[in-house]
Parts: sequence; structure tokens; C-alpha cells
Amino acid sequence: MDRVLITGASRGIGRELVEQFAALGWEVYAALRTPMGTPFPPGVVPLELDLKDPASPARMSKALKGKPLDLLWNNAGLYGLGASRIGEIDPQEWQEVLTVNSLGPLLVTQALLPNLKLGQKKWVVATSSTMGSIGENTSGGSYAYRASKAALNSTVKSLAQDLGPSGFTCVAFCPGWVKTDMGGTSAPLEAKTSVAGLIQQCLSLTRRDNGRFLNWQGREIPW
Ligand SMILES: NC(=O)c1ccc[n+]([C@@H]2O[C@H](COP(=O)([O-])OP(=O)(O)OC[C@H]3O[C@@H](n4cnc5c(N)ncnc54)[C@H](OP(=O)(O)O)[C@@H]3O)[C@@H](O)[C@H]2O)c1
Repeated sequence: MDRVLITGASRGIGRELVEQFAALGWEVYAALRTPMGTPFPPGVVPLELDLKDPASPARMSKALKGKPLDLLWNNAGLYGLGASRIGEIDPQEWQEVLTVNSLGPLLVTQALLPNLKLGQKKWVVATSSTMGSIGENTSGGSYAYRASKAALNSTVKSLAQDLGPSGFTCVAFCPGWVKTDMGGTSAPLEAKTSVAGLIQQCLSLTRRDNGRFLNWQGREIPW
């Protein structure tokens, strides 16, 4: 049976990833800050993970010692409203966004590398954002969020270089503008639709996709 670990599983896109992978028959590990009391479909295994704490990924990985993982989906993220407009940048909030969105996925990947090496597929994907594309930044602002996703993209690219020769495929995905707490109610896409597209793209990954930045419909996004 294929196994996936998804971060940011409490709500939004992460929650939907958990439900759709579980419905496809995957064994799902749902990483979230508050595993107690969050209901999941039967069989889903909740694990505690707080990306504000750099020790948390290694702590979480202890529960998975020796278990193969096919796919790691680094999805958790936050926007950082207080570090989005020039003239109003709160340095602490900027650092928090970078810690959760950029350092977090790197530390989770590092902690789960032994599990991924034991897995068949060796896929490491991240929910990034077109907002992290320097080439497509035509509207400015969102300082912390854009910087954090650009740093995440750079991390995915380095992982692709470092791990590709050992059979890994590392990819950054943009889910589109999605109706979630982060995306807001004006977003055109339902989480169900975006996640169905993301999973379709993910399941069709080949080694040739290593190091790519794609949207939920498979369109290439400039770095
Ligand atoms: N929605 C969009 O339009 C859109 C567009 C492009 C990219 N994205 C990306 O998609 C991903 C999911 O976003 P979403 O729209 O589903 O947002 P969301 O509904 O706000 O969910 C964010 C998720 O990240 C988790 N998270 C936040 N801080 C965390 C921390 N310190 N440790 C562990 N988990 C933490 C949240 O957990 P808690 O419940 O514990 O806070 C929640 O599960 C993010 O990476 C986001 O940047 C979203």
C-alpha cells in the first residue's frame, strides 16, 4: 500500500489532500498542530507537528522509525498579513512566515529522508505558490509570503539536485487561488477541485519532472 505524509492537515488544502488520498486507498499520515480532537476518515494516522518549533519535525519522525513513505507532501503554510505591506513590516512576523513556510518543509524532509529512502516512489512535493515566482511577480507586496515561497522553491530545486540521483522526484506545486481560510471567499477554486487536479498531477509524475514548478493543471511556472 502507498503511504503519504501530509503537513497542514487540519484544514483547507491539507485536509482535502488527506481525504482524497484516503479515498484513493493510500495509507495517510496527517501532520498537524492539534492531533487530539481533529476527526479524520478511518485509518488516517494523526501526528503532531508545529513548524514554528524547529525540533518538532525530528520529534514527529520518531513515531515513523523504519516505516517506508512513498510521498511527503509539504503543505502547511501561513500568509503573514503583518509582514505584507511596505512601511508596515513586522520583522518578527516576517521571520515566523519564513520559519514555517521555508525552513519547516526543509526540516520535515530532512527528518523523513530515511523513510522516503525506504519508499518505492520517493516523491517530495511542496504546496508552493505562483506568489513565490520572481518571474511572475507583477503586483509586488506580500513581502514575507513571496519571500518564503521563493525560498521554498529554491529548497525544492536543491533537493531535486541532491536527491534526484538517488531516484527522488522533487516538485513544487501551485494549487491556484483556492477558497480556504488563507485564500478567502473570493477565490474562484474550490479546494476539492484544486486538490483533485494536484493529485492528478502528482500521480503522473515521472523522474523527468524532478525539479519542476507546476500548477494544479500541469502548467509550468517560471521560478
Ligand atoms: N488558498 C490559496 O489560494 C493558496 C494559493 C497558493 C498556495 N497556497 C498554499 O497552500 C497551502 C495550504 O494553504 P490553505 O489555503 O489550505 O491555507 P489554510 O486553510 O490557512 O491552512 C493552512 C494550514 O497550514 C497549517 N499551519 C500553519 N502554521 C503552522 C505551523 N506553525 N505548524 C504546522 N502547521 C501550520 C494550518 O494549521 P492550523 O490549523 O494549526 O493553523 C493549516 O492546516 C499553504 O502552503 C499555502 O501557502 C494556498
